[in-house]
Order: sequence, then structure tokens, then C-alpha cells
Amino acid sequence: MSGLISSQKPPSHHPFSAAAEAIWIPANADAPTRAVEELENGKIVMLPYEPFRLTHEEEAFLNPDCLDPGSKSIKYSPTQRKIWGAAEQHKNSTALAGLMARYADFARDLVNRLLPRYSAALIIGNGSLRPVEVEGRVQSKRHDDRLLHVDSFPSRPTQGKRILRIFANVDPSGKTRHWQVGEPFADVAARFAPRISAPFPGSALLMRLLRITKEKRSPYDHYMLHIHDQMKLDDEYQAAASRSDIHFPAGSTWIAFTDQVSHAALSGQHAMEQTFFLPSDAMRNPLLSPLRVLEALGCPTLRGLTAKGGREG
Ligand code: SIN
Ligand code: FE
Repeated sequence: MSGLISSQKPPSHHPFSAAAEAIWIPANADAPTRAVEELENGKIVMLPYEPFRLTHEEEAFLNPDCLDPGSKSIKYSPTQRKIWGAAEQHKNSTALAGLMARYADFARDLVNRLLPRYSAALIIGNGSLRPVEVEGRVQSKRHDDRLLHVDSFPSRPTQGKRILRIFANVDPSGKTRHWQVGEPFADVAARFAPRISAPFPGSALLMRLLRITKEKRSPYDHYMLHIHDQMKLDDEYQAAASRSDIHFPAGSTWIAFTDQVSHAALSGQHAMEQTFFLPSDAMRNPLLSPLRVLEALGCPTLRGLTAKGGREG
């Protein structure tokens, strides 16, 4: 596994070495096996020595003024080579498109090297540049990522596919990104799934026809979206849920299945992120997927749903 991580050991003072929810994996021959095992078990895999560096020119985009008013991030589709959410004067910037494309390549290269087992099945989704300080950001509860949640996208049903995200703290001033990680997905699901009623027949097709969703919202997506919303809307849960703090240093990179890891971003500015989708049956242990966990809890409409079907761009 040469070249994966440039140092064999994290420095002893490294703040995340103590957090059980974030695992640092040494660069040896076992790294791909370990990474898959840890990720599928709901851990965050840290790659602190794989920094994504911005050029001096690109650092100019680390500024909330580069955003379209109302957006909290600049989004990029590597397949369509298209940008959303940028302010008028940056919409057609080749430097900005170049930065976004370079981050997508960086993330793809990282997953190919660290997670070769997934490579053939992974579907690349959108990436984002997040130049707004998270602390103090005003959002509705549903949009507030400072509240513990698992990821589920209202307009992008995954139909059972996993959401794998590669984050990089690119803050040039050296500020850490502070996350909290909550209880395991099985506990989250056991708490919230019984409160969710099954989708009404025909709703998925209606949402697709009305273009609320880009794909048909499967029963799986229905449950995941409701779990996401109910977690964020439950003040008592937010106040009482057990959690651990993780401080991602500037220059660090981390990977997680964010549909499974209960997470909240509390502070930090300037991160980049690339999303991938993975069919659940491409996992080493599909029984650990949210789909199978929900099925095991007896969410009735999920039975027989396979992880296949649908596209994601
Ligand atoms: C999130 O996915 O909840 C936000 C993570 C971040 O911006 O650090
Ligand atoms: Fe999230």
C-alpha cells in the first residue's frame, strides 16, 4: 500500500487518535481490508496525511462572497462538469471548475487506492465546496447540519445505495472542523423507524412526475428521509443523545458512510466534499447496510427491495 499515506504513524498529540469513532489506518498492506471493515461498521476513516492542497489562486474561492445568495455551498457534478450555487461573477470561472474537478479526481483516486473492493461498483455523485463558517449559521432545523443526523437527500433517492463521502478540511488559517458522532445506526433506527408510517401507495411516482425527486423515492428512501428529519426535529433527542467529539485538523481528509454514521458539524469553515453511491450488495457485509438494518427491524414495505435499480449522477 505504498503511497497511500506518507507517514506510518500519527503524531502522538493528534487530537483524533483518542476518538473511537474515527479510526486512523496505517499505510500497510492491510489498509484496504481494514478501511472497508471500519467503514462498514460505521466508523470514520481518517487520512490525515493525504492533504488536498489549493493553489494560491484557488484560495480566493474560500470566501462566502463566492456563493450565490441563499446557497451554503458550491456544488459540482463531475459527470456533467456543471457548477451550481456560485455567485454570478464566478459561475463560469474555469479556475473554480478546475478546483472542483481536481477535488473529484483526488477523491476518486483515494477511493480507488484505499477501497479497491468498491471501485467497480462505485457511482460518483456531486461534490461541494463549503466556504461558510458552520457555527452560528442560521438554517431551518431540517437543513441544520449542527444537529445529529444521518444523511438522506430529499431530491436524490438512493433506492438502497450507500452514501460514501470524502471530506477535506481545506481551511488555510489552520482551523479545525468540529464534528460530533452519535449512537450506532442500529440504535438510531430502532428508536425512530417504529414512529414512521409506511409511504402511501403511488406517492413515489407522483413525486417523480412532479419532479420533486430525480428518481423514484423508494420505501427505503422514505424511511431514511423520515429518520433524518425526525432526528433533527426531536429536541429531547438532540439534547440527550450520547455523542463523541472529533476535531478534524486543517489539511486532514476523512471518509464515512454518512447514511449510517450519525453526525453533526458544529464549527469550522472551508471544507470540500465528494459524494459516491455504492449498491449495498457491493459491500463486504451487506447486512450492515441501513437497508438491511431497517428490514431486520421489520419495516414491512422494504421487504424484497433490492439495492439495484435507478441511476445517480
Ligand atoms: C454534514 O454532512 O452534515 C455536514 C458535514 C460538514 O459540512 O462538515
Ligand atoms: Fe450530513
